[in-house]
Amino acid sequence: KMLCRFPLISVRNVPLMSLIASNFDTIWAFTPDPSDLLIATYPKAGTTWTQEIVDLLLHNGDAEACKRAPTPVRSPFLEICSPKPIPSGKMIKTHLPIQLVPLGFWENKCKTIYVARNAKDNLVSYYHFDRMNQTQPEPGPWDGYIHKFMRGDVGWGSWYDHVKGYWVEREKKNILYLFYEDMKENPRREVERIMKYLDLSLSDEVISRIVELTSFKNMKENPMSNYSCIPSQVFDHNISAFMRKGEVGDWRNHFTSEQSKMFDEDYKEKMKDVNIPFRDLI
Ligand code: PPS
Repeated sequence: KMLCRFPLISVRNVPLMSLIASNFDTIWAFTPDPSDLLIATYPKAGTTWTQEIVDLLLHNGDAEACKRAPTPVRSPFLEICSPKPIPSGKMIKTHLPIQLVPLGFWENKCKTIYVARNAKDNLVSYYHFDRMNQTQPEPGPWDGYIHKFMRGDVGWGSWYDHVKGYWVEREKKNILYLFYEDMKENPRREVERIMKYLDLSLSDEVISRIVELTSFKNMKENPMSNYSCIPSQVFDHNISAFMRKGEVGDWRNHFTSEQSKMFDEDYKEKMKDVNIPFRDLI
């Protein structure tokens, strides 16, 4: 079997997939073009959704244009693609914590959109992803996975450090910091925020179309956004779909009240030095 669930390897104390860790020097040396746009997230926080919104905004809501290729081709994944040249003017996806993002992004003042998702839903989504993604370590039993997540012993490391790192730098680096829960609550408002950040001005009709095209249901059915392009030896959609539920609060179907209490206490301690307005946690 070509692929296997290799253990994670730490780079500057951040556990990464071994393929990424072994290429890290090349990734670190990557220099973007000033026109490149960075979409940064902790894994499973709403990356694909945001990539689709941005692509549609850049193409004036043209659904066909945005079906020209699957998401990872339209918006290359820095950690996986950077050894190859990435054409400029692209939306580049990364899950790297801010201290591991190549400095050229900041030197060139690239626009950066960060999306954060509440910790418990993010954990649940990651758990199901680690079950189906054959390139990441096995998640193991649910209860143990909660502790792994709390320790940051998962791909791309600590959720807590990740969301804080970008939050603290957001003003200095002109990062648009979005929340998955806000996007669910009022997708139109958040699409308009992204549009303004990108210095675009599209008609109300086009914005409505973009909101509709990027609904969970439509993206799940769209072969160019639902990751059906990834072979089943890599993403086993029979174990769990990439477009799984797309909801806020699914953690309530997973955490026992004891697990939730334990998680919340640890959360308060880890997050006490910042005041990031996450919702639907407790
Ligand atoms: S990845 O692998 O890190 O790029 O994954 P990412 O895209 O960040 O996260 C996947 C989760 O986002 C949900 N999703 C959506 N939710 C609402 N609306 C839309 N359009 C949408 N598209 C993707 C996806 O279902 C995963 O969340 P869960 O909770 O597992 O369903």
